[in-house]
This record gives sequence, C-alpha cells and structure tokens, in this order.
Amino acid sequence: MSSDARTVLPVIRTKAQAKEIYDKMSPFYDYFAGVFERKSRNEALKRLNISRGETVLEIGFGTGHCLKQITEAVGHEGRVYGIDISSRMLAASRRRLEKAGLWSRAELTCDDALKMPYTDSKFDAVFSSFTLELFDSPEIPQMLAKIRRVLRPNGRIGVVSLSKEDGDSRFLTLYEWLHRKLPRYIDCRPIYAERSIEDAGFEIQYKERVGLFGLPADIVIGTKPPPYLT
Ligand SMILES: C[S@@+](CC[C@H](N)C(=O)[O-])C[C@H]1O[C@@H](n2cnc3c(N)ncnc32)[C@H](O)[C@@H]1O
Repeated sequence: MSSDARTVLPVIRTKAQAKEIYDKMSPFYDYFAGVFERKSRNEALKRLNISRGETVLEIGFGTGHCLKQITEAVGHEGRVYGIDISSRMLAASRRRLEKAGLWSRAELTCDDALKMPYTDSKFDAVFSSFTLELFDSPEIPQMLAKIRRVLRPNGRIGVVSLSKEDGDSRFLTLYEWLHRKLPRYIDCRPIYAERSIEDAGFEIQYKERVGLFGLPADIVIGTKPPPYLT
C-alpha cells in the first residue's frame, strides 16, 4: 500500500455547505443512504447496549432512525439528546419521534456538534453513525475529546464509520476518487476510527468490520476509563 493510500482525505466543503447539502438531501436521504447504512447502524446500536433510564446523546442523527431506537431503549425514565447541523434533518427526526409518541423524551439541537453544548459527564453513552468521518482530520481528535468530556466515567462511545484500514481495496479507491471529484456531495470519507478513538483515551471494547456493498466500515465501541486509570 502506498503512503498516499493510507492518507485520510481532507474535508473540502465548509460547515455552511454541509448544512445546505444535508438540508437538501433530507427528503431523499433514506432512499439512497439508508439502504446501505441500516444494517451496520443497527448492529452498532445493539453493541452499545443502551438500557432503561440512561441518558444518551446521538451526534449527526439524520432522519432519526437510530434516535427512535435509542429513545425506545431508554424508556420513560431515560432521556435522549441529539445534535445535527441540518435543521431539515432535525425536522424529519422530530416528525418521526412525534409519530411514535416519543418526542417528550428527546431534546434536539441544530448546530455544529464540535460546539458540544453539554455539561461534563452528562451522558451514559454517545452514539454516532456515518458522521465522525465528516469532520476534517484535525477536528476528529477535538470531537472525540469533547465526547470524552461529556461522558461519565465508564460511559460508552459507539461509532460506525467508513474505514480506511483496508486502504488498497479497489472499491475504496473508486469511492475516494468520487470524494475528490464531488467533495460537497460525497462528503463521507474513510477514516481510522478505532485508532482515533483509542488515541483519544478510550478503551476499545469491541470492533467489527462490516461491508457496505464493497465499502468497508467499522463498528467501534469504547469506554471512558474512570479517573484513577488516567
Ligand atoms: C451521513 S449522515 C448520517 C445520518 C445518520 N447518522 C445515519 O446513519 O443515517 C450525516 C449526518 O450528520 C450531520 N452533520 C454533518 N456535519 C455535522 C456537524 N458538523 N455537526 C453535527 N451534525 C453534522 C448531517 O446533517 C447528517 O444528518
């Protein structure tokens, strides 16, 4: 594998452009991306093992499929928070939760998740699917440090992301070529999720490689160690 094949591609679009694109995509998102992503999202959620009464944050919740499952899992005693840069994604998620009678358990914010407007140690678990790879490389450690801050000791992080670990697969090369050509639209790009999460000080509890019609993705579950171990 050449060094170029190992390099994570930069994010070229601005946050304003990300918001604009996801606002435009929100009515159609489930038809094209949802089909590819559903299985791995659900598997990651299962591994995150959310239980009744927990307080959970989802970052980049999109049209709210996982948000709904998380809200069901925490039950009446729990609380779910979500942050997404797209106001139309938020509106779609709100409709989904209202339809399911779950809206009163949720609190959604429309903003750049890097702002992380939550207090320290607030959450039992933080979940994010196909969103960590939308942050530019210098932002990924910042994002993970903020997730660590808002998790309680022993709290869990669950991430699904496109994986760069099989950097020489032909399909990955083709996908990255598309990302270079259409960086505003094909904005997810493969990253080293497990290594980034470990470097941010989490203990890796579970890792699974899954395939999205030829594109490798990783499910990674980690925990925030208690203070006496850090
Ligand atoms: C590829 S979609 C994934 C949606 C959902 N998690 C799923 O798996 O179906 C990425 C989501 O992250 C949101 N997003 C992109 N950049 C963001 C940012 N900087 N802060 C918060 N949300 C962001 C988008 O609006 C979109 O809803």
